[in-house]
Amino acid sequence: MGYIQTEIIVVDAVYPAPAVIERAANLLREGEIVVFPTETVYGLGAGAFQPAALERIFAAKGRPFSDPLIVHIADRHDLVQLTTSIPEQANRLAQAFWPGPLTLILPKGPRVPHLVTAGLETVAIRMPRHHVALALIRALGSPIAAPSANRFMHVSPTTAQHAYTDLAGRVPLVLDAGPCDIGVESTVLDLCSETPRILRPGGVSLEALRSVLPPGQLLTHYAPTVPLVLFDDTVETMRSAMLAEIQRRSEQGEHVGVLLAEEDIPTFQDSGVLLYSPGSADDLKQVAANLFAGLRTLEEAHVQVILCRNFGDQGLGLAIRDRLLKAAGGKVYG
Ligand code: TXA
Ligand code: MG
Repeated sequence: MGYIQTEIIVVDAVYPAPAVIERAANLLREGEIVVFPTETVYGLGAGAFQPAALERIFAAKGRPFSDPLIVHIADRHDLVQLTTSIPEQANRLAQAFWPGPLTLILPKGPRVPHLVTAGLETVAIRMPRHHVALALIRALGSPIAAPSANRFMHVSPTTAQHAYTDLAGRVPLVLDAGPCDIGVESTVLDLCSETPRILRPGGVSLEALRSVLPPGQLLTHYAPTVPLVLFDDTVETMRSAMLAEIQRRSEQGEHVGVLLAEEDIPTFQDSGVLLYSPGSADDLKQVAANLFAGLRTLEEAHVQVILCRNFGDQGLGLAIRDRLLKAAGGKVYG
């Protein structure tokens, strides 16, 4: 991609100058991308219904097309063009938290481009609590799709300067309204699963969501409903630590499940606990494909704890590790 001159324009966070907003909206109308502030982190926006502009987002960030984008709206009526149905819970949550740092996953409407949803049948939507973001969406007259305005795998930008550092030469305009209030990304809540599930913790807390959802109606991100302990060490050390932990817990009468690799099975087959192998540690594609199924299988067998080996951090290993760390909620051994 060619080098683009990047301009930073300072804009008042509460009373953004209409001429500046109009300038940014015109760029979006022309199919350009623009960095703009939200209350969580800076976003890299494109018109949500403009596939060519959406492609530019992925190119500028170096982000794979497999990662879907959040659509930002300024008015609840905008939901109609984005979704096929609005569950009652979505209305209650929107009433309580919009505008604000809550992203809802809803069934995707037919007009939403596949580039936004990464081919999924669902779409992520939020209404940001920031005058500049809202003014920009209104001036464009259409929702804005935007990921955080950082290069892929880098931390999210909470100042215009952060975004500039990552994206200079790749975007024509950065709107600078000062540091973001919240500083962490929005909470992503999936309303398309049977029970609402937090896919990413963020600006709206678990407690706050619980106060709006019916009692018991919330699952946290990838966490299985039973506790998971991740064993993070070289294969031999990890195996002996897991065996020791199995013995300790079994002696206490705990029903233990173990998520291991195929090649670990001989070490564990006589330990008298429930084993699940998603595949060989040499075949991470298979491990990834079976990972969540494995957690669910152990969960459904009513184990009280899942002891889990690590699968390294090469290739897909990093994604597997990320999901296991989330499931472990910080309980890492080794
Ligand atoms: O606070 C925020 O959410 C910021 C500001 C700019 O709004 N945006 C942001 O976007 O953090 P991004 O793209 O960096 O993160 C969006 C997250 C990703 O983890 C993505 O996988 C998830 O939302 N997501 C988007 N669409 C989804 C969908 N249909 N189903 C499940 N997850 C989805
Ligand atoms: Mg991001």
